[in-house]
Amino acid sequence: MVQKIQLIPVEDRLKAMEEAGYNTFLLKTKDIFLDMLTDSGVNAMSDNQFAGMINADDAYAGSMTFYEFAKAVEDVLGYKHVMNTHQGRAAEHLIAKVFAKPGGVVPTNYHFTTTKAHIELQGMQVLEIYYDGALKTESTNPFKGNMDPDKLRNVIKKYGREKIGFVRMEATTNLIGGQPFSMSNLKEIRGICDENKLLLVLDGSLLCENAYLIYQREKGYENKTVAEVVKEMCSIPDIYYMSGRKNTSVRGGCIATNDQKLFEEIKPWLPVYEGFITYGGMSMREIGAMSVGIREMVDPSVAGSSVEQIKYFVNKLVKEGIPVVTPPGGLACHLDAMKFLPEVPQSQYPAGALAAALYITSGIRSMERGTVSMDRDKEGNDVFADVELTRIAMPRRVYTMSHMEYAIDRIVWLYKHRDLVKGLKFVSEPPVLRFFFGRLEALDGWGRDLTEAFKKEFGDV
Ligand code: F0G
Repeated sequence: MVQKIQLIPVEDRLKAMEEAGYNTFLLKTKDIFLDMLTDSGVNAMSDNQFAGMINADDAYAGSMTFYEFAKAVEDVLGYKHVMNTHQGRAAEHLIAKVFAKPGGVVPTNYHFTTTKAHIELQGMQVLEIYYDGALKTESTNPFKGNMDPDKLRNVIKKYGREKIGFVRMEATTNLIGGQPFSMSNLKEIRGICDENKLLLVLDGSLLCENAYLIYQREKGYENKTVAEVVKEMCSIPDIYYMSGRKNTSVRGGCIATNDQKLFEEIKPWLPVYEGFITYGGMSMREIGAMSVGIREMVDPSVAGSSVEQIKYFVNKLVKEGIPVVTPPGGLACHLDAMKFLPEVPQSQYPAGALAAALYITSGIRSMERGTVSMDRDKEGNDVFADVELTRIAMPRRVYTMSHMEYAIDRIVWLYKHRDLVKGLKFVSEPPVLRFFFGRLEALDGWGRDLTEAFKKEFGDV
């Protein structure tokens, strides 16, 4: 499918940004040129996926489309038991609820926003167990998403296994720049979980990008297929879940396992929160498209589609001297806002300011992944994020190299004029996941100054 997009004039972009409270989530698509907010639910589906939608068997219970999906999950991921959920966060809700240890902890290689919210809602605390150096934005470490096994052992010693809800590994860690973990790390963490009888949960929302990067970067995997790497990864955890909106290009999610006992523990709650076992809150049409998507996602041209574009994008920006997260990972090109805008302190949300500035400069919508994406502590203070990233996500099979070139051109211009960009201040914010609906304003009205500088050079485009 094609969709008409347009680049509105810079004055209109400033107006739209102001109306959106300097929060790119609150922009309307009519005002957006390239929508790179996320790679979630905005990928191009394949012809066969559309065919799968038309073919779907629309029954409340017992739909054959669900059984086709379950077969695809078994063939591709190797799991015998699967249930759908309406999104990835719904899977997180169920897992956090069923395996909650109130007052306990969940060690993870890095949290995701919704994961953290669900774990905390169950009275547990998230512990980030990454290696030293994982937060260094400019790096040559191929596996910044690895969990540090020594730190995990220390956590187990400190809290005791009975206080650990589960151990969570996130494929291609979203919030630290789409960085993968290695297969050997996943196996080592499995070993520790076995020794301590701990449940290992894999968030496979970005599974295929992680597998593709293992295939490209990890010794011993260069001659395997992405499909083989995916199967091997999935054979390791006790429970797998994913948002289907990324790898399968379908709005939905699932939980899968080979452990029937665990499956039976979660299953009764599915109809309470999501829907009957053969649809789990998704439409049958989407499940039809998802069963095709599961089979297609391990094709290297799909698994590598965003990875290769991100590599091109990131490497070009590095050449231009722009501070970006390296090595290039899955999901997005991430600008390091603290280096891009060194004068803007974390208390003034540099990643949010940079996302707003990028929109005014280019019509490109990116996403704040920094302190705005962290909720306040109980005393109402800001919790400063480990890294302040402005995420320019890469929807799969949507944009071309010339879109990338346009983005690079405008980012380079913005970098030259970065002294015009100041911080942001909250005007209103909700108590949870404030980045979705929070409204901010530009300090000293910098949006106007940036717009004027842009007009001087490019006119009113
Ligand atoms: N886990 C990871 C690693 C994710 O990236 C996401 C979503 C979720 C869970 C939740 O899944 O959206 O289907 O409920 N990430 C999107 C993003 C929102 O833009 O990165 P969901």
